[in-house]
Amino acid sequence: MLIPFREITRDALRRRYAVGAFNCLSVENVMGAVAAAEELHSPIILQLAEVQFPEAPMELMAPVFLRAARDAKVPVAVHLDHGRSIETCIRAVREGFTSVMFDGAELPFEENAEQTRLVVRLAHAAGVDVEAELGGEGTAAAAADVFTDVEESARFIARTGTDALAIAIGNLHGRYTATPRLNIARLREIHARNAVPLVLHGGSGTSEEDFKACIRNGICKINVATAIQIAAAEAVAEYLARGGSPGYIGIKRRIIEASQRAVAEHIRLFESDGKP
Ligand code: 13P
Repeated sequence: MLIPFREITRDALRRRYAVGAFNCLSVENVMGAVAAAEELHSPIILQLAEVQFPEAPMELMAPVFLRAARDAKVPVAVHLDHGRSIETCIRAVREGFTSVMFDGAELPFEENAEQTRLVVRLAHAAGVDVEAELGGEGTAAAAADVFTDVEESARFIARTGTDALAIAIGNLHGRYTATPRLNIARLREIHARNAVPLVLHGGSGTSEEDFKACIRNGICKINVATAIQIAAAEAVAEYLARGGSPGYIGIKRRIIEASQRAVAEHIRLFESDGKP
C-alpha cells in the first residue's frame, strides 16, 4: 500500500527503528525490494536519485514504483532522492511521488534554507513531504570537518518546515575504502535538539554497531544504494562465469534475487521487520 513518507518516518521515530530507503534503478530492483519487505513484514521506501535519471528516467520509473507500492502488502513510500533543483522536485510531485528530497547541502546555509523553504511550501501544497540536507555528507575528502552543526540544524528546521533532515556525521556515499566510524555523539545532540525524523545517507558499508547506535539515537530513515548494485553485479558475474549459454531472463532473475537478499539484510539490520 502506498503510504505517505511522514507516516512511515514518524512511526519509525516513535517505535525506534529505521525504515530502509532503497535506490532502485530497474524493475528487477523494485521487485526484489518489495519481495524482501513483504517477506519480512516491513515498511520500505522506494527511491530514485536525480543522478540516476540517465539510466532510470524518473518519468519512466514513476509508474513502476507507484504500482509496486500500491500492490504491496506492506507500507511503501515513493521518494525522490537528491533532487538537485526545485524544478526536479516539482516534476516528482507531478508524477505522484509521496515525498521529495531537496539537496541544497552544497549551498551556503542561507541559500539552502531559502530554497528548501520554497520546496516545502510548494510540495506541502500538493500534500507531498520533504526531506532536506544540512552538512557536508557526500565525498571522502569532505568527511571530517563538515558534520552538521547542532544549532544550525535547529535554525534550519524552524526556517524551512522540512519534514525530515539528512545529516552529516561522517557518512559517505558509495563504496568505503575502510568501514567508517560515525559521530554518534553529534547525532545524539542533533536529535535532542530537534523533533523531526533524521536521515542517514550512505548506508552501504556502515558497521552493524553504528547502524544500531544510529537507530537508538534518532535516525529513522537509512538510504542504501551501493549495496544493492554490488549484490546485483556480483550475482550476474557469478552466473555468467558458470559457462554454458547464459540467458537474459536468467540475468534478470539473478538481479531480482540479489536485490531481495540485499534489501532483506538491511531491513533486519534496521529492525523494521515485523513493523508494518
Ligand atoms: P550508498 O550508495 O552508500 O548506500 O548511499 C545511498 C544514498 O545515500 C542515496 O542517497
